Amino acid sequence: MVMNVVENLGQSDPLEGETSQGKDRSMAVRPRRLRRTAGLRRMVRENQITVNDLIYPLFVMEGEGQKIEIPSMPDCFRYSLDLLLKEVAEVRSLGINAIALFPVVPESKKDATGTESYNPDGLVQRTIKAIKKAVPEMLVITDIALDPFSIYGHDGIVDEQGKILNDPTVEVLVKQALSQAEAGADLVAPSDMMDGRIGAIRQGLDAAGYFDVGILAYSAKYASAYYGPFRDALDSAPKFGDKKTYQMDAANSREALKEIELDIAEGADMVMVKPALAYLDIICQVKSATHLPVVAYNVSGEYAMIKAAAQQGWIDEKSVMLESLVSMKRAGADLILTYFAKQVAEILQGG
Ligand code: PBG
Repeated sequence: MVMNVVENLGQSDPLEGETSQGKDRSMAVRPRRLRRTAGLRRMVRENQITVNDLIYPLFVMEGEGQKIEIPSMPDCFRYSLDLLLKEVAEVRSLGINAIALFPVVPESKKDATGTESYNPDGLVQRTIKAIKKAVPEMLVITDIALDPFSIYGHDGIVDEQGKILNDPTVEVLVKQALSQAEAGADLVAPSDMMDGRIGAIRQGLDAAGYFDVGILAYSAKYASAYYGPFRDALDSAPKFGDKKTYQMDAANSREALKEIELDIAEGADMVMVKPALAYLDIICQVKSATHLPVVAYNVSGEYAMIKAAAQQGWIDEKSVMLESLVSMKRAGADLILTYFAKQVAEILQGG
């Protein structure tokens, strides 16, 4: 065998142009047999992306008739509610089952403790109701965290020293979850990384009778520089410091499993790893550690990098996008939150 390999070095591709006319050496295992045609490759393909895997994040803003492109996220827009409803209907007609909603909150509605987050007539609450009325079968997932509502741009309440307070924040997050459940959210998705919030939100929802509202926990959410374009989209960048006292250190993996275990014990229905591409190893480990659905968040920076390089003509957008997304499935993701969702659904429909 070793001899054969050595002999073959420098020769032309051994299968190329050959027939079974005796040129081939006998070889029991030839993996390339199963790669010979597109049909064979499809037959043995281990992972694929389907429209059921996709969750589409959407940005909603106040106003009417507004659709404003986010400069660092080409093809992603902030929509006023009227136009958002049209977009949701279109996305649903492409077969997408679920959207994740993020509000652009006017500066005048922000305060130190994020009170607008649980306003029953707030932008998110009104949007959930309107979507559920217009496109009832669309699953609505809502973000739980204070950053878009906070004058400090932090996910929690900040004290005089700039410390992010855990337990007082959790109390507000529970109110936020309840107001979203009341508006009709199917799943609430805490992205704040405060300790104990999953349990507190579960208890709060149950006590109010919202037993069927699920929790998609951002369990292993890293303090990542890949969130930059998203913070542009929402004007929600932290006004001081960073998020490293609550989001996880990029160098850690065992800690991700600890967070996952806690969230499962506290009642999470699905767990998330975020970001996705630089954390495929974490997705893989989380997948073997739980039977819950594992969600990967293909975040704004990952999206922006592909879009930017493609705009320069340096990479092929469609191929790189699909290769990236299937890598998340291969790593173990059941579901993917991605700004590419609509584009992928169009491709899957043969568009
Ligand atoms: C807010 C939140 C963030 C993202 C989702 N929810 C930003 C952050 O934590 O700073 C990032 C999403 C993305 O980059 O696509 N808690």
